Amino acid sequence: QGTPRLALKSLARRGDPLAQLLCTPQGMHDPYPLIESVRAQGPMVRGPLGWSTADYELCRMILRDNTFRVRAAEGFVPRPLRSLAGAAVLPPNPVDPPSMLVMNPPEHTRLRRPVASAFTPRAVKRLHDRVVSVTAELLDRLSRSDSADLAASFAAQVPIAIISEMLGFPDEDRDTFLGWGEQFSPMLDIGLSWRATSQAISAIMEWDHYLDTHLARLRSCPGDDILSGLVEAGQLDDHELKATASLLLGAGFETTVNLIGNGIVALLEHPDQLARLHAEPDLWPNAVEEILRFDAPVQRSARIASADLDIGGVQVREGSTVVLLLAGANRDPAVFGNPEVFDVGRVNARDHLTFSTGIHACLGASLARMEATYALRALFEQFPDLQLAGPPHRTPMFTLHGFDHMPARLGTRQ
Ligand code: HEM
Repeated sequence: QGTPRLALKSLARRGDPLAQLLCTPQGMHDPYPLIESVRAQGPMVRGPLGWSTADYELCRMILRDNTFRVRAAEGFVPRPLRSLAGAAVLPPNPVDPPSMLVMNPPEHTRLRRPVASAFTPRAVKRLHDRVVSVTAELLDRLSRSDSADLAASFAAQVPIAIISEMLGFPDEDRDTFLGWGEQFSPMLDIGLSWRATSQAISAIMEWDHYLDTHLARLRSCPGDDILSGLVEAGQLDDHELKATASLLLGAGFETTVNLIGNGIVALLEHPDQLARLHAEPDLWPNAVEEILRFDAPVQRSARIASADLDIGGVQVREGSTVVLLLAGANRDPAVFGNPEVFDVGRVNARDHLTFSTGIHACLGASLARMEATYALRALFEQFPDLQLAGPPHRTPMFTLHGFDHMPARLGTRQ
């Protein structure tokens, strides 16, 4: 992950499909032909970053095998880039230790356990009423004009409202979080440019300062939210508390916004599938699984081999990285028939790997599913004539895959 962007760019120019995926506009806008080129080279492909795979069984096996570990030592941003951006040591953030996302057991288990209870299907069910009222407010606001950018005014708003409340943040700070998220999330991409790194680092610095003030407030006046609970339980030190808060806030909206946005576009581009949902509304939960499979909001993950291993017929050496193309696994023809077809009735849509699997499987999967199912259904039922008013614009990122602009004409509200 520390491979310099220049090396990736030069490999991309020479036609390496993984490098093209990771750092060219095509990789960000239309990754699927490139993913198929990776698949065509075999189940395990050697490339600029070590190994990569788009094979469903291998991705699943590697994610579930604890001989493969996450990158705890350094986090995501290479040290030289950090010091260039003026921050040799970063404050706690979602992609550096001690964020659970990049920690291995036993620390991972200790960090994940205290927050897991807030995200069980039962806990998420209790949040349904809030999702209903937040969505209703947004749809009321939308109905006051004929057109809107659904990325900013709808897709982003539902998840940020819910996760901010869960963490006890004031409503009026949501826009600030959205701004920091925009600067921060390119950090998940490999071979980040210096400019993007320094922007991401300033967002982390500002967020750290904000969080100090917020935690001090919760200590003197605890609320009924996840962070107050963690402060009171006293099991996490300050660094761990801040890394956890950062991960929950970031993961809580940066991904679900793309699930809702990718869903809006997929359904508008497949009117037959939307018509089927109008006729068979019980299919909505399955449609959300199909959106997650067909156009995954998180396109990849990675693991590091902690021993020499024989995987998919190749020798993977201890310390090698394996890039797991989750979006490719979701289109593996050995598992999903006609994988390039968007089918809201697909029987095994829920087998996708978009939420990962194994010990790092997404903690917020139930929440994301609930938010997207309700928000998409309400939007399309209340605005049945909704149309795109121009081409939607892809966010220029690979790992997180969504739209940052989605101009739409709303039509009459039902
Ligand atoms: C982990 C995807 C929504 C919280 C992950 C991972 C993926 C993922 C792929 C695992 C990465 C790996 O194995 O390396 C998604 C997608 C979402 C979504 C596609 C929405 C569509 C959420 C939400 C939350 C959340 C709403 C909650 C606030 C987390 C946390 C982890 C995680 C805390 C770390 C789990 C661990 O390391 O044990 N997510 N996520 N995610 N997600 Fe999500």
